Amino acid sequence: EMPRFKLNTGQYIPAVGLGTWQAKPGEVGEAVKYAIKVGYRHIDCAKAYGNEKEIGDALQELFKEGIVTRGDLWITSKLWNSDQHPDDVPLALAGSVQDLQCDYLDLYLMHWPVALKKGAQGTAPEDFAPLDTKATWQAMEKCYEKGDKTKAIGISNFSVVKTKALLSYAKVVPAVNQVECHPMWQQKKLHDFLYSQGIHLTAYSPIGSGGSWFTKHVKVLEHPVLQSLAKKYNKTPAQIALRWNIEMGHSVLPKSTNPERIKENLHIFDFKISEEDLKLFDKIEQVRLLCGDDLWVNDTTSPYKTVEELWDGEI
Ligand code: A2P
Repeated sequence: EMPRFKLNTGQYIPAVGLGTWQAKPGEVGEAVKYAIKVGYRHIDCAKAYGNEKEIGDALQELFKEGIVTRGDLWITSKLWNSDQHPDDVPLALAGSVQDLQCDYLDLYLMHWPVALKKGAQGTAPEDFAPLDTKATWQAMEKCYEKGDKTKAIGISNFSVVKTKALLSYAKVVPAVNQVECHPMWQQKKLHDFLYSQGIHLTAYSPIGSGGSWFTKHVKVLEHPVLQSLAKKYNKTPAQIALRWNIEMGHSVLPKSTNPERIKENLHIFDFKISEEDLKLFDKIEQVRLLCGDDLWVNDTTSPYKTVEELWDGEI
Protein backbone atom coordinates (compact mmCIF):
# COMPACT_ATOMS: atom_id res chain seq x y z
CA GLU A 1 0.00 0.00 0.00
CA MET A 2 1.42 3.33 -1.12
CA PRO A 3 1.76 5.93 1.70
CA ARG A 4 -0.24 9.10 1.13
CA PHE A 5 -0.43 12.69 2.37
CA LYS A 6 -3.74 14.33 3.30
CA LEU A 7 -4.68 17.47 1.38
CA ASN A 8 -6.89 20.35 2.51
CA THR A 9 -9.67 18.87 0.35
CA GLY A 10 -9.72 15.74 2.51
CA GLN A 11 -8.24 13.64 -0.28
CA TYR A 12 -4.99 11.70 0.00
CA ILE A 13 -2.21 12.19 -2.56
CA PRO A 14 0.11 9.18 -3.08
CA ALA A 15 3.59 10.01 -1.75
CA VAL A 16 5.37 8.94 -4.94
CA GLY A 17 4.25 9.87 -8.42
CA LEU A 18 5.88 9.23 -11.77
CA GLY A 19 7.21 12.41 -13.37
CA THR A 20 6.63 12.60 -17.14
CA TRP A 21 8.39 15.84 -18.13
CA GLN A 22 11.03 15.09 -20.76
CA ALA A 23 9.84 11.49 -21.02
CA LYS A 24 10.17 10.86 -24.73
CA PRO A 25 7.30 9.97 -27.04
CA GLY A 26 7.45 6.24 -27.66
CA GLU A 27 8.88 5.74 -24.16
CA VAL A 28 6.48 7.46 -21.81
CA GLY A 29 3.57 5.04 -22.37
CA GLU A 30 5.74 2.04 -21.57
CA ALA A 31 7.10 3.82 -18.49
CA VAL A 32 3.59 4.55 -17.21
CA LYS A 33 2.46 0.95 -17.75
CA TYR A 34 5.55 -0.43 -16.05
CA ALA A 35 5.29 2.01 -13.13
CA ILE A 36 1.67 1.18 -12.42
CA LYS A 37 2.35 -2.55 -12.66
CA VAL A 38 5.08 -2.24 -10.00
CA GLY A 39 2.91 -0.18 -7.67
CA TYR A 40 2.87 3.51 -8.66
CA ARG A 41 -0.58 5.04 -8.24
CA HIS A 42 0.18 8.65 -9.13
CA ILE A 43 1.15 10.08 -12.52
CA ASP A 44 2.19 13.72 -12.90
CA CYS A 45 1.32 15.15 -16.31
CA ALA A 46 0.98 18.47 -18.13
CA LYS A 47 -0.30 19.63 -21.48
CA ALA A 48 3.06 21.33 -22.01
CA TYR A 49 4.90 18.01 -21.83
CA GLY A 50 3.30 17.07 -25.16
CA ASN A 51 2.73 13.43 -24.19
CA GLU A 52 -0.72 13.27 -22.58
CA LYS A 53 -2.26 11.31 -25.46
CA GLU A 54 0.33 8.55 -25.20
CA ILE A 55 -0.16 8.44 -21.43
CA GLY A 56 -3.92 8.23 -21.99
CA ASP A 57 -3.47 5.26 -24.32
CA ALA A 58 -1.31 3.52 -21.70
CA LEU A 59 -3.97 4.13 -19.02
CA GLN A 60 -6.66 2.68 -21.28
CA GLU A 61 -4.60 -0.48 -21.75
CA LEU A 62 -4.15 -0.84 -18.00
CA PHE A 63 -7.88 -0.38 -17.42
CA LYS A 64 -8.76 -2.92 -20.13
CA GLU A 65 -6.29 -5.46 -18.76
CA GLY A 66 -7.87 -4.99 -15.33
CA ILE A 67 -4.54 -4.01 -13.70
CA VAL A 68 -6.11 -0.95 -12.03
CA THR A 69 -9.31 1.07 -12.19
CA ARG A 70 -9.49 4.83 -12.62
CA GLY A 71 -10.36 5.15 -8.94
CA ASP A 72 -7.09 3.49 -7.92
CA LEU A 73 -5.06 6.26 -9.55
CA TRP A 74 -4.12 9.86 -8.82
CA ILE A 75 -3.69 11.88 -12.00
CA THR A 76 -2.41 15.44 -12.02
CA SER A 77 -2.26 17.76 -15.01
CA LYS A 78 -1.45 21.43 -15.49
CA LEU A 79 -2.94 24.48 -17.18
CA TRP A 80 -0.45 25.76 -19.73
CA ASN A 81 0.53 29.43 -19.70
CA SER A 82 -1.18 30.09 -23.03
CA ASP A 83 -4.53 28.91 -21.59
CA GLN A 84 -4.68 31.34 -18.68
CA HIS A 85 -7.50 33.43 -20.12
CA PRO A 86 -10.59 32.57 -18.01
CA ASP A 87 -12.51 31.42 -21.11
CA ASP A 88 -9.72 28.98 -21.98
CA VAL A 89 -9.31 27.40 -18.54
CA PRO A 90 -12.29 24.98 -18.69
CA LEU A 91 -11.45 24.12 -22.31
CA ALA A 92 -7.83 23.32 -21.47
CA LEU A 93 -8.95 21.19 -18.52
CA ALA A 94 -11.40 19.29 -20.74
CA GLY A 95 -8.62 18.86 -23.33
CA SER A 96 -6.23 17.27 -20.86
CA VAL A 97 -8.98 14.98 -19.53
CA GLN A 98 -9.74 13.96 -23.09
CA ASP A 99 -6.10 13.31 -24.02
CA LEU A 100 -5.44 11.43 -20.80
CA GLN A 101 -8.70 9.49 -21.33
CA CYS A 102 -9.21 9.41 -17.60
CA ASP A 103 -12.71 10.84 -17.04
CA TYR A 104 -11.50 13.45 -14.53
CA LEU A 105 -8.29 14.71 -12.91
CA ASP A 106 -7.47 14.37 -9.24
CA LEU A 107 -5.56 17.65 -9.34
CA TYR A 108 -5.25 20.49 -11.84
CA LEU A 109 -2.44 23.02 -11.34
CA MET A 110 -1.68 26.45 -12.76
CA HIS A 111 1.68 25.57 -14.30
CA TRP A 112 3.46 28.95 -13.90
CA PRO A 113 2.71 32.47 -12.69
CA VAL A 114 3.20 33.49 -16.33
CA ALA A 115 0.66 34.20 -19.09
CA LEU A 116 1.28 33.67 -22.79
CA LYS A 117 -0.91 34.62 -25.71
CA LYS A 118 -3.41 32.01 -26.84
CA GLY A 119 -1.71 29.34 -28.93
CA ALA A 120 1.78 30.72 -28.21
CA GLN A 121 4.33 27.96 -27.79
CA GLY A 122 7.53 29.70 -27.03
CA THR A 123 9.26 32.23 -24.91
CA ALA A 124 9.75 34.99 -27.47
CA PRO A 125 8.92 38.48 -26.18
CA GLU A 126 5.86 38.70 -28.45
CA ASP A 127 4.44 35.51 -26.87
CA PHE A 128 3.74 37.10 -23.47
CA ALA A 129 0.24 38.23 -22.46
CA PRO A 130 -0.69 40.50 -19.54
CA LEU A 131 -0.75 38.51 -16.32
CA ASP A 132 -4.10 38.28 -14.52
CA THR A 133 -3.60 35.51 -11.99
CA LYS A 134 -6.75 36.49 -10.12
CA ALA A 135 -8.97 35.97 -13.16
CA THR A 136 -7.23 32.68 -13.96
CA TRP A 137 -7.55 31.42 -10.41
CA GLN A 138 -11.23 32.35 -10.32
CA ALA A 139 -11.73 30.28 -13.47
CA MET A 140 -9.87 27.40 -11.79
CA GLU A 141 -12.19 27.77 -8.77
CA LYS A 142 -15.22 27.50 -11.05
CA CYS A 143 -13.86 24.23 -12.45
CA TYR A 144 -13.33 22.95 -8.92
CA GLU A 145 -16.81 23.96 -7.81
CA LYS A 146 -18.32 22.26 -10.86
CA GLY A 147 -16.38 19.21 -9.78
CA ASP A 148 -16.83 16.88 -12.76
CA LYS A 149 -13.43 17.40 -14.42
CA THR A 150 -11.10 17.92 -11.46
CA LYS A 151 -11.29 16.99 -7.78
CA ALA A 152 -8.73 19.53 -6.58
CA ILE A 153 -6.90 22.62 -7.83
CA GLY A 154 -3.51 24.08 -7.08
CA ILE A 155 -0.50 26.04 -8.28
CA SER A 156 3.05 25.37 -9.40
CA ASN A 157 6.22 27.46 -9.33
CA PHE A 158 4.67 30.03 -6.95
CA SER A 159 6.96 31.81 -4.46
CA VAL A 160 5.85 32.76 -0.93
CA VAL A 161 4.99 36.28 -2.13
CA LYS A 162 2.98 35.04 -5.11
CA THR A 163 1.17 32.41 -3.03
CA LYS A 164 0.28 35.07 -0.43
CA ALA A 165 -1.06 37.37 -3.13
CA LEU A 166 -3.23 34.55 -4.47
CA LEU A 167 -4.53 33.74 -0.97
CA SER A 168 -5.63 37.36 -0.54
CA TYR A 169 -8.46 36.78 -3.03
CA ALA A 170 -8.76 32.99 -3.26
CA LYS A 171 -12.07 31.45 -2.21
CA VAL A 172 -10.54 28.01 -2.71
CA VAL A 173 -7.14 27.61 -1.04
CA PRO A 174 -4.81 25.71 -3.40
CA ALA A 175 -4.44 22.07 -2.33
CA VAL A 176 -0.86 21.89 -3.59
CA ASN A 177 2.05 24.06 -4.70
CA GLN A 178 4.31 21.95 -6.91
CA VAL A 179 7.87 23.30 -6.94
CA GLU A 180 11.48 22.26 -7.39
CA CYS A 181 12.58 20.59 -4.16
CA HIS A 182 15.50 18.30 -3.28
CA PRO A 183 18.38 18.27 -0.76
CA MET A 184 20.20 21.03 -2.69
CA TRP A 185 17.08 23.24 -2.97
CA GLN A 186 15.15 22.55 0.18
CA GLN A 187 12.58 25.36 0.04
CA LYS A 188 12.52 25.79 3.83
CA LYS A 189 10.87 29.25 3.76
CA LEU A 190 8.25 28.17 1.26
CA HIS A 191 7.64 24.92 3.16
CA ASP A 192 6.99 26.78 6.43
CA PHE A 193 4.62 29.20 4.77
CA LEU A 194 2.70 26.57 2.79
CA TYR A 195 2.29 24.25 5.78
CA SER A 196 1.10 27.17 7.94
CA GLN A 197 -1.66 27.64 5.36
CA GLY A 198 -2.54 23.95 4.94
CA ILE A 199 -1.05 23.76 1.45
CA HIS A 200 0.82 20.58 0.53
CA LEU A 201 4.21 20.80 -1.21
CA THR A 202 4.88 18.41 -4.07
CA ALA A 203 8.54 18.17 -5.10
CA TYR A 204 9.54 18.19 -8.74
CA SER A 205 13.09 17.32 -9.80
CA PRO A 206 13.36 15.49 -6.45
CA ILE A 207 16.61 13.81 -7.46
CA GLY A 208 18.02 16.92 -9.08
CA SER A 209 17.10 16.11 -12.67
CA GLY A 210 20.53 14.61 -13.35
CA GLY A 211 21.84 15.58 -16.75
CA SER A 212 19.02 17.92 -17.72
CA TRP A 213 19.82 21.05 -19.73
CA PHE A 214 19.04 23.37 -16.83
CA THR A 215 21.06 21.70 -14.08
CA LYS A 216 24.32 23.21 -15.29
CA HIS A 217 27.21 21.71 -13.35
CA VAL A 218 25.24 20.71 -10.26
CA LYS A 219 25.04 16.99 -9.50
CA VAL A 220 22.77 16.46 -6.52
CA LEU A 221 23.31 12.70 -6.36
CA GLU A 222 27.06 13.15 -6.06
CA HIS A 223 26.80 15.29 -2.94
CA PRO A 224 28.89 13.75 -0.10
CA VAL A 225 25.96 13.78 2.35
CA LEU A 226 23.85 11.72 -0.04
CA GLN A 227 26.78 9.47 -0.87
CA SER A 228 27.62 8.71 2.76
CA LEU A 229 23.99 8.21 3.85
CA ALA A 230 23.48 5.89 0.87
CA LYS A 231 26.29 3.70 2.20
CA LYS A 232 25.02 3.88 5.76
CA TYR A 233 21.43 2.90 4.90
CA ASN A 234 22.38 0.56 2.07
CA LYS A 235 20.29 2.60 -0.38
CA THR A 236 21.14 4.59 -3.50
CA PRO A 237 21.76 8.37 -3.36
CA ALA A 238 18.51 8.78 -5.34
CA GLN A 239 16.57 6.88 -2.67
CA ILE A 240 18.16 9.03 0.06
CA ALA A 241 17.17 12.20 -1.82
CA LEU A 242 13.59 10.96 -2.26
CA ARG A 243 13.30 9.80 1.34
CA TRP A 244 14.50 13.20 2.58
CA ASN A 245 11.50 14.82 0.84
CA ILE A 246 9.17 12.20 2.35
CA GLU A 247 10.53 13.00 5.85
CA MET A 248 9.71 16.66 5.15
CA GLY A 249 6.10 15.72 4.37
CA HIS A 250 6.38 16.34 0.64
CA SER A 251 5.17 14.06 -2.14
CA VAL A 252 7.80 13.40 -4.81
CA LEU A 253 7.72 13.08 -8.61
CA PRO A 254 10.86 11.29 -9.77
CA LYS A 255 10.98 11.05 -13.56
CA SER A 256 12.34 7.93 -15.14
CA THR A 257 11.66 5.87 -18.24
CA ASN A 258 14.12 3.16 -17.14
CA PRO A 259 12.45 0.10 -15.51
CA GLU A 260 15.19 -0.44 -12.91
CA ARG A 261 15.16 3.20 -11.84
CA ILE A 262 11.34 3.38 -11.85
CA LYS A 263 11.36 0.52 -9.33
CA GLU A 264 14.28 1.95 -7.36
CA ASN A 265 12.47 5.26 -6.90
CA LEU A 266 9.46 3.53 -5.33
CA HIS A 267 11.41 1.49 -2.81
CA ILE A 268 11.85 4.17 -0.19
CA PHE A 269 9.36 3.04 2.43
CA ASP A 270 11.36 0.29 4.15
CA PHE A 271 13.64 2.73 6.00
CA LYS A 272 13.70 6.13 7.72
CA ILE A 273 16.44 8.76 7.86
CA SER A 274 17.14 9.32 11.58
CA GLU A 275 16.58 12.73 13.22
CA GLU A 276 20.31 13.04 13.68
CA ASP A 277 21.10 12.25 10.06
CA LEU A 278 18.42 14.71 8.90
CA LYS A 279 20.50 17.45 10.54
CA LEU A 280 23.27 16.74 8.03
CA PHE A 281 21.03 18.18 5.31
CA ASP A 282 21.03 21.60 7.05
CA LYS A 283 24.63 22.15 5.98
CA ILE A 284 24.14 21.42 2.28
CA GLU A 285 24.79 24.48 0.12
CA GLN A 286 21.61 25.56 -1.67
CA VAL A 287 21.20 26.20 -5.39
CA ARG A 288 18.04 26.54 -7.47
CA LEU A 289 18.43 24.46 -10.62
CA LEU A 290 15.40 25.54 -12.65
CA CYS A 291 15.70 29.34 -12.50
CA GLY A 292 13.44 30.09 -15.44
CA ASP A 293 15.59 33.00 -16.56
CA ASP A 294 15.85 31.62 -20.08
CA LEU A 295 12.08 31.01 -20.06
CA TRP A 296 10.09 33.73 -18.36
CA VAL A 297 12.35 36.71 -17.81
CA ASN A 298 12.78 39.59 -20.24
CA ASP A 299 12.91 43.35 -19.81
CA THR A 300 10.09 44.29 -22.19
CA THR A 301 7.00 42.06 -22.26
CA SER A 302 7.42 39.77 -19.24
CA PRO A 303 6.05 40.89 -15.86
CA TYR A 304 9.43 39.68 -14.58
CA LYS A 305 12.41 41.81 -15.56
CA THR A 306 14.81 39.77 -13.47
CA VAL A 307 15.01 36.27 -12.08
CA GLU A 308 14.72 37.80 -8.58
CA GLU A 309 11.27 39.12 -9.53
CA LEU A 310 10.14 35.74 -10.86
CA TRP A 311 10.98 34.06 -7.54
CA ASP A 312 10.60 37.16 -5.31
CA GLY A 313 14.16 36.84 -4.13
CA GLU A 314 13.96 33.11 -3.38
CA ILE A 315 16.95 32.39 -5.52
P1 A2P B 1 16.09 8.11 -16.67
O1 A2P B 1 14.73 8.49 -17.17
O2 A2P B 1 16.96 7.58 -17.75
O3 A2P B 1 16.00 7.18 -15.48
P2 A2P B 1 14.17 14.29 -11.69
O4 A2P B 1 13.01 13.40 -11.44
O5 A2P B 1 14.80 14.84 -10.43
O6 A2P B 1 13.86 15.38 -12.67
O7 A2P B 1 15.36 13.43 -12.36
C1 A2P B 1 15.15 12.79 -13.58
C2 A2P B 1 16.49 12.41 -14.17
O8 A2P B 1 17.20 11.52 -13.32
C3 A2P B 1 16.33 11.70 -15.47
O9 A2P B 1 17.44 12.05 -16.27
C4 A2P B 1 16.38 10.21 -15.09
O10 A2P B 1 16.86 9.45 -16.15
C5 A2P B 1 17.33 10.24 -13.91
N1 A2P B 1 16.98 9.24 -12.88
C6 A2P B 1 15.76 8.82 -12.51
N2 A2P B 1 15.81 7.97 -11.48
C7 A2P B 1 17.13 7.83 -11.17
C8 A2P B 1 17.83 7.09 -10.19
N3 A2P B 1 17.18 6.30 -9.33
N4 A2P B 1 19.19 7.21 -10.16
C9 A2P B 1 19.85 8.00 -11.04
N5 A2P B 1 19.23 8.73 -11.99
C10 A2P B 1 17.87 8.66 -12.06
